[in-house]
Amino acid sequence: MRTYLKHMALAALLLAGSSAWAADQGTVLVTGANRGIGLEFVKQYAAKGYKVIATARKPGEAKDLQDLAKTDKDIVIETLDVSDLASIDTLAAKYKGQPIDILINNAGITGSPEKQQFGTIDYASFNDVMDTNVRGPLKMSEAFADSVAASKQKKIIVITSSEGSISDVKSNRQPFYRGSKAAVNMVFKNISFALKGKGIAVGLLNPGPVDTDMMAAARGRMPLRTTELAVRELSAITEKLTLEQTATFFNFDGTTLPW
Ligand SMILES: NC(=O)c1ccc[n+]([C@@H]2O[C@H](COP(=O)([O-])OP(=O)(O)OC[C@H]3O[C@@H](n4cnc5c(N)ncnc54)[C@H](OP(=O)(O)O)[C@@H]3O)[C@@H](O)[C@H]2O)c1
Repeated sequence: MRTYLKHMALAALLLAGSSAWAADQGTVLVTGANRGIGLEFVKQYAAKGYKVIATARKPGEAKDLQDLAKTDKDIVIETLDVSDLASIDTLAAKYKGQPIDILINNAGITGSPEKQQFGTIDYASFNDVMDTNVRGPLKMSEAFADSVAASKQKKIIVITSSEGSISDVKSNRQPFYRGSKAAVNMVFKNISFALKGKGIAVGLLNPGPVDTDMMAAARGRMPLRTTELAVRELSAITEKLTLEQTATFFNFDGTTLPW
């Protein structure tokens, strides 16, 4: 009986030890975590033993994310609309003083193609794209900079796009989206100097064409990569990211993209 109790106590200690180890991996915050690339980031970082703050505009409708959170107590779901500055401040105040190792600015929109036809441009739609893709990541990084600086890894990631590469533009297509991704690259290249002073490295990562709702129109017309593969590659780049490489515009394969 005494030996049995000793084994039980040892097992309890090991279990406690393994959950402490899991928490020690660090904390990741993901925006737009309810579907697509964001949801896959949550899945993979949680599987690696990270605590994940998974944010979504409408958590009540985020069934896949809720199901995932039910299987892992280290996934916390929070409400966040990155185009709403007050919503960002509220969330940052809630996590004030708590280290966040990796902030992943993933949420993004393209804007409807018909609203960005030159000659009939819908400027309200242009604002929506810029607010979500540029102002959102900037405000998130400003609001969470102290939490990231207080962490071990100190990394801010922006899921940008090769569509933001000005030197690659050969035709008039998606000016809102392309403009927003070029702008977010420029904004983060700029603020990387301020963030470097806090020890924070910035990663501007292009996932390549990935099979998500955003690329629904491209299905069957071009090869699309799985979210599983894309996130595995982006996480590998994130893991190796150093302060010396800050604000490098990385392709998913680890090569550098032209501005
Ligand atoms: N898929 C690709 O091929 C590809 C290529 C290059 C770059 N990217 C970039 O990768 C990122 C993720 O894209 P994805 O392919 O996963 O797209 P997706 O499947 O359309 O998912 C977009 C995510 O962003 C969220 N979102 C949109 N506006 C938001 C806001 N104002 N506040 C908070 N969340 C918001 C969406 O939430 P709701 O469900 O509430 O709308 C959704 O969770 C984007 O930045 C995109 O530009 C994707």
